[in-house]
Amino acid sequence: MRVAVGLCVLFAGFSAVLSRSFEYVHLEPGQSTSIPEGWTRIERVAPDEDLKLTFALKQQNVDVLEDLFWKVSDPTHEEYGHYLSLHEIADIVKPSNETVAEVERWLEGSGVTDCSTIITEDFLECSMPARTAENLLGDIKFHRYTDGKRRVIRSEVRYLVPRHLKDHLDFVGGVHRFPPGLKLKTAESKNISSPQHIGNYPTVIRERYNISKEVGGKHEANSQCTPQFLEQYYHQGDLDLFWRLYGKGYVHRDEIDKVVGEVPGGLSGIEASLDTQYIMSTGNNITTWFWYTAGRHEQQEPFLQWLIDLSDMENAPLVNSASYSDKERTVDPDYMNRINTEFMKAGVRGLTLLFASGDDGAGCHDNKHFEPQFPSTSPYVTTVGGTAFIKPFGIGEEQGYDISGGGFSNFFDAPDYQKELVDKYFKMSDPEKMPPASYYNRVGRGYPDIAAVSNHYWVVNNIVPVPGVLGTSASCPVVAGILAHLNDHRLAAGLPPLGFVNPFLYQNPETLTDVSKHLFLTF
Ligand SMILES: *[C@@H]1O[C@H](CO)[C@@H](O)[C@H](O)[C@H]1NC(C)=O
Ligand SMILES: *[C@@H]1O[C@H](CO)[C@@H](O)[C@H](O)[C@H]1NC(C)=O
Ligand SMILES: *[C@@H]1O[C@H](CO)[C@@H](O)[C@H](O)[C@H]1NC(C)=O
Ligand SMILES: *[C@@H]1O[C@H](CO)[C@@H](O)[C@H](O)[C@H]1NC(C)=O
Repeated sequence: MRVAVGLCVLFAGFSAVLSRSFEYVHLEPGQSTSIPEGWTRIERVAPDEDLKLTFALKQQNVDVLEDLFWKVSDPTHEEYGHYLSLHEIADIVKPSNETVAEVERWLEGSGVTDCSTIITEDFLECSMPARTAENLLGDIKFHRYTDGKRRVIRSEVRYLVPRHLKDHLDFVGGVHRFPPGLKLKTAESKNISSPQHIGNYPTVIRERYNISKEVGGKHEANSQCTPQFLEQYYHQGDLDLFWRLYGKGYVHRDEIDKVVGEVPGGLSGIEASLDTQYIMSTGNNITTWFWYTAGRHEQQEPFLQWLIDLSDMENAPLVNSASYSDKERTVDPDYMNRINTEFMKAGVRGLTLLFASGDDGAGCHDNKHFEPQFPSTSPYVTTVGGTAFIKPFGIGEEQGYDISGGGFSNFFDAPDYQKELVDKYFKMSDPEKMPPASYYNRVGRGYPDIAAVSNHYWVVNNIVPVPGVLGTSASCPVVAGILAHLNDHRLAAGLPPLGFVNPFLYQNPETLTDVSKHLFLTF
């Protein structure tokens, strides 16, 4: 139906293009193009307004890259830790001359000449007037939308590309995907009127995970990072007060060491405050980056932009803790596969990517299915879930926390590293207490991979100590800080960093605490 509509418009408006007898096809047919809840359309974008589109060029040798990814990440493999530089990765994956030539011919033929590429040569970012962008992609229509706070430029009409480019492009970015809602990744704060000593703060977390007073980063080359996407800024004033209240008894850095992107003044975000305060107090005295991607262009997809920038930076931070997710169901498998390849590129460089598993438990779609989240379901990243202390204000055993995102992918099979333990989990589980099998994909990639305490956090936000902050956004930077300490030891011993850590985690379950108690929901 949509195809027919698109083509009609195309016939009416672009006989010049058609006279070259291009046949047009959709990329990402599975991508949702509807306006998500909470967003409204404001206006049509003026024809001469400048837009930026991102062209994901088909890479070469993705199978070679994947093979390397598994080898360098597997502690039992002789290639473990033999990471590649970004330029070496570029030599493997960069698009063929034919791909580059075909895409450039198409763009130039349509008047698009202002393009730039990155070190790995697999993304082209091009600026052009809206009119040109609309014509290029099969006469789509760009509109401006808002959720009350942010504004983006998107098209509800599906884009088309000439059929012969299907073999040369994975997708075009900046057209359809809206920024995911804030709900999933922003910690909630509850109004608990309780004295300061109740709740979780750095010394509680450090005691629970046995990070003694003496532990602190030492190696110059070590680093950790919190990428931020959604108008989340941190403030030095918040960090100053946080250290005054919660910084005693262990060595730490007072300030973020490196900021990427523009961090404007104004209010700090609870998510950014939480992430910086807990990555810096768990991964204490480790070089910390704050990597902010957003808002530069209304047509930007910040998460995609972060991955592109990562592929254009030689010395990227070693451990990265991100809170970002989208409903797996609403994005196209071609897009997810390409993002997975970007994750592999990071792993082959020895970078560790951690994603908060989400704060909606297993989620719910149609009242009949769970709602897995991407990239939580990606087999190529480490997904961090949430626990809670069984005795709420004591430091002791943990149980699974009911909001902690978890489940099984509907697109990605369980990777080898987790098959045995997932099977064990099903054998161990009481069938009476399991949800109906039709709700989820038993053989899919299961998540999360690891978890930490995720509620009752104290966070200083806009110079106010806020109690009761919760979410997997809290556990993720804590796990990141712990892994960054492990990297510190490895670097000091002349070993390469951990890189993609899942094979290591699943091969060494005895080094982790089994959180076997769960809060079961009733069905
Ligand atoms: C691709 O283009 C580059 C630069 O123009 C050239 O050096 C190289 O030989 C070409 N590769 C192939 C396989 O044609
Ligand atoms: C939180 O508590 C304060 C002081 O008791 C009160 O003024 C405020 O309305 C409360 N906020 C919420 C969201 O309940
Ligand atoms: C905590 O760490 C110390 C050494 O740093 C070790 O001796 C002790 O066994 C650890 N405790 C636990 C519970 O892992
Ligand atoms: C903190 O880390 C730096 C390296 O980044 C190191 O030189 C310094 O000695 C560390 N400080 C302490 C107190 O360990």
